[in-house]
Amino acid sequence: MSLRDAATKVRENAHAPYSGFKVGAALRAASGAVYAGCNVENVAYPEGTCAEAGAIAAMVAAGDTELVEIYVIADSPTPVTPCGGCRQKLAEFGGGAVPVTMGTTDGAEQVMTLSELLPGAFNAEHMAGG
Ligand code: THU
Repeated sequence: MSLRDAATKVRENAHAPYSGFKVGAALRAASGAVYAGCNVENVAYPEGTCAEAGAIAAMVAAGDTELVEIYVIADSPTPVTPCGGCRQKLAEFGGGAVPVTMGTTDGAEQVMTLSELLPGAFNAEHMAGG
């Protein structure tokens, strides 16, 4: 199954009663395994989680720690870019060259690398000597 297909499928399970905006994400780990996640909203709004965070959690829970590509899909006029927090979460497990493909349910796609999405990312090297 392609990452787009996996992201499309998991998006159907999104819990988004407050925004009405369902998002699906599927990533491929270095092992080759695919992990998927959807947004899970909460009546206490800040407790909601993004699709990307769900896919990352599934990857880590399964024992993988490196992602090599990710696909994010939503029903939006233009491809939806990951929020700022998710860009940092993705950078924890993926290098700057990791392609992030953003797709719409209509078939539009945009590809950007992680370093394009999060230039100057805060990383562990910043804490050296601290
Ligand atoms: N959302 C994601 O899951 N991923 C994104 O990349 C953008 C936003 C979710 C969070 C919230 O449940 C809904 O979309 C509206 O912001």
